[in-house]
Amino acid sequence: MTKKAWGGRFESNPESWVDAFNASIHFDKNLIDQDIQGSIAHATMLAEQNIIQTDEAELIIQGLKDIQKDYYDHNLELSESLEDIHLNVEHALIQKIGQVGGKLHTGRSRNDQVATDMHLYTKQHVQEIITLVESLQKAILNIADEHIHTIMPGYTHLQRAQPISFAHHIMTYFWMLERDKSRFNDSIKRIDISPLGAAALSGTTHPIDRHRTQELLGFGSLYENSLDAVSDRDYIVETLQNISLTMVHLSRFAEEIIFWSTDEAKFITLSDSFSTGSSIMPQKKNPDMAELIRGKVGRTTGHLMSMLVTLKGLPLAYNKDMQEDKEGLFDAIHTIKGSLRIFEGMITTMQVNKERLNETVHKDFSNATELADYLVEQNIPFREAHEIVGKIVLWCIQNGKYLLDVPLEQYQSYNEKIESNVYDYLKPENCLSRRKSYGSTGQEAVQHQINVAKELI
Ligand code: ARG
Repeated sequence: MTKKAWGGRFESNPESWVDAFNASIHFDKNLIDQDIQGSIAHATMLAEQNIIQTDEAELIIQGLKDIQKDYYDHNLELSESLEDIHLNVEHALIQKIGQVGGKLHTGRSRNDQVATDMHLYTKQHVQEIITLVESLQKAILNIADEHIHTIMPGYTHLQRAQPISFAHHIMTYFWMLERDKSRFNDSIKRIDISPLGAAALSGTTHPIDRHRTQELLGFGSLYENSLDAVSDRDYIVETLQNISLTMVHLSRFAEEIIFWSTDEAKFITLSDSFSTGSSIMPQKKNPDMAELIRGKVGRTTGHLMSMLVTLKGLPLAYNKDMQEDKEGLFDAIHTIKGSLRIFEGMITTMQVNKERLNETVHKDFSNATELADYLVEQNIPFREAHEIVGKIVLWCIQNGKYLLDVPLEQYQSYNEKIESNVYDYLKPENCLSRRKSYGSTGQEAVQHQINVAKELI
């Protein structure tokens, strides 16, 4: 067993299975880059403040860089009995450069150290998530650009409602992601704060310079209160919230992809490279990627709940419960990044079955509202028009027809104001082009929407 960094007041050590329960090294080794970055900034500041000698700081910094290299060369032995990444690195440093390595922890605690690492890690990954969100938005925009004139049935209650543009439909996800991006961007100011120098909880008597380490680490601001610095996990909750909501959006889109790719809908065909087969049914091509993304919302939402419950009722300042903040966050970040990448690949390679979509809006009653509007234009009150069209639809259902197949005499038997121009009026493409209201599904309005979206990207 390795000697504990805190072993002085102990007469015996925990057994290895107790160490194993206590340890976080198997997951917080993820923080090695941030840990070393934080330590280098701390050592630099200690030397600048004459708390340690310049040559001591140089030795420490070189030692830390060598440890980082050893880690990536698989030459760094990590031990559970050394608990976490912080104590493992410190131990390796002392082994490498001798007792001077023990000076690194002057004026610092693992409490502000781990908080610093987590702030750096979260900031970096949130920025990467924003880039991936934007990349998916671009993919949506490219598809939308090609499909302003592709008509599909729009649904409410999963029943055909009114014909809409395919571009208009998928642009909805662009705007959801735009709000997600804005939430992630906004959260950065609450992540980008330096806790370093708060030490265990109360600050330190050493003449450290917290503003200098803030600057060296590129943090936008620093905590005003040392207890808050080591106890704040709000930014982790907020990141998990933002991840969860973005995943909810992806799951809604995934559900549509799954439905669109069914034999019943056939609105899209997924690329073979983003589908899988069945071990027993040779004909199957399953939308596993979309289903997995839909399913992974369970994990990300779970991590959010878990973090909230872990923090509930936690007194100030640091408590070991907080070690539980890591695995959920790491997994949520991993999950959303994977989901965003897969989503982009899946939609850029899918085929949109334009003809099939066009056919569906000719074999439904999604133009029924148009017929009512046609009657309104002939000065019939909307409520009355609604009633008339309802009766015509019923006649169609009973006679196996759609509105474009109803003979003119039949129409006129319901209302003599219906004339032969009704057929043009009811064509799905004209249902769209008459929609000129701002933000509507009309081709011109969708083109405008796409132009506005392009300005944002
Ligand atoms: N592994 C710990 C964590 O993740 C680091 C901080 C430990 N601090 C302490 N006082 N035990 O939270």
